[in-house]
Amino acid sequence: MDLLHLKAPGNWINDPNGFVYYRGEYHLFYQYFPYAPCWGTMHWGHAVSRDLVHWEHLGVALFPTRYEDQNGCFSGSAVEQDDRLHLFYTGVHYDTIDPQNTHRVVNNSFQAAQLTISSPDGRRFDNFGGKQVAVPRLEDPAWGDRTHTRDPKVWRGADAWYMVLGSKTPDNRGKLLFYRSRDLALWEPAGSAAAPQGLGWMWECPDYFELDGGQVLLCSPMGIAAPDGETGDHTICMQVRFDEAACRMELPETYQFFDYGLDLYAPQSTLDAQGRRVVIAWLRMPEPVEGRWCGMFCLPRVAELKNGRVRFRVHPNAERMYARRIASPGQAEAAGYKLCLELAEGQWAQIGGYRLALQNGCVTADRSRVFPAGAGRVKCAAPPVGSRARLEIYVEPNLIEVFINGGEYTLSSAVYGLTQELLLPPGQQAELYTLA
Ligand code: FRU
Repeated sequence: MDLLHLKAPGNWINDPNGFVYYRGEYHLFYQYFPYAPCWGTMHWGHAVSRDLVHWEHLGVALFPTRYEDQNGCFSGSAVEQDDRLHLFYTGVHYDTIDPQNTHRVVNNSFQAAQLTISSPDGRRFDNFGGKQVAVPRLEDPAWGDRTHTRDPKVWRGADAWYMVLGSKTPDNRGKLLFYRSRDLALWEPAGSAAAPQGLGWMWECPDYFELDGGQVLLCSPMGIAAPDGETGDHTICMQVRFDEAACRMELPETYQFFDYGLDLYAPQSTLDAQGRRVVIAWLRMPEPVEGRWCGMFCLPRVAELKNGRVRFRVHPNAERMYARRIASPGQAEAAGYKLCLELAEGQWAQIGGYRLALQNGCVTADRSRVFPAGAGRVKCAAPPVGSRARLEIYVEPNLIEVFINGGEYTLSSAVYGLTQELLLPPGQQAELYTLA
């Protein structure tokens, strides 16, 4: 059982997949390599929860069985129809096999197809007999890439089912491909949208939804400049215009980052039991914890559209858990604590070695004291918010999530070896809460 943050149950996890509320339970699947704490042939691991807070691990749901998914069951999504749970995912088949390591792709050369499998109860998946090809390998590069087309996100539209896939153009820009289906079985290409230059060479994990009267796209471009200008893979969020009947999407030039730390990636959203848009993302971790497990998810976040910007706040079910006031981090439960704090320009606080400051109107973070040396970047900053910032900081042993001004921006970082020391700006009392 995992509490609040879902973690690899051993070995390796990456993206959240198939996030759905089905028959009174949240199902959360994930990219899973069950044999070692590193990326390898992808399976889908599976967990369920009644409240988005207490997660029960159910083991492996999907594993390679067919020609199309011989080398992995990549990311995808879930929908309910006629009381059955339908999963959509990308099957990959490597063009050549590395004789030394069959779990690694050679020269990034493989083919991708979109597959589907359904379950009568959300728990039983017939991996040997139940998989169908929804969208076969692409043959026309002008439409989409044979290799880099993946991560089907399916949703129910006004009159049909829709699927969006992340892909690339022949000149290495991100691209979205849309498909439509009446029955979840037969899928027809219905439209596409190419990203402007400068937003990465391929788009992973697209997720489109309506939000508070607007239309929002979350996606994870590979090779995009982070807020500090360095190129990498980072999740962005934008308000789009989508004409469903024509499957035409207008992508704006402007976007925001999903999170202003450097580690959250490949989020997936669904509607919760109350109809809120809830999002969970993968925390990239540079090395396994205790040599045993690598990869976990952030707290569930509720997305809201306010004044033309998407904001994220902690889901109330998770927020509610931090109900017991404590005097110091040493009194916190193992699952961590929440710290409320206000910083004025020039002030800083240090949480177990993790330093937050307000500098030139921006909340900045420095994890150099609590991060393996040489394992990646240690500093990041959110956009300017003015001369004061109200922070809600959720601390657990390997993740610090900062919500700035009630979710105006978030900044989350992977950490290792936090101490129990708390250094606050002069005159500030610690306002700390742990699990009741
Ligand atoms: C994103 C991603 C997806 C892919 C999966 C493979 O992190 O690269 O695009 O489906 O991970 O594990």
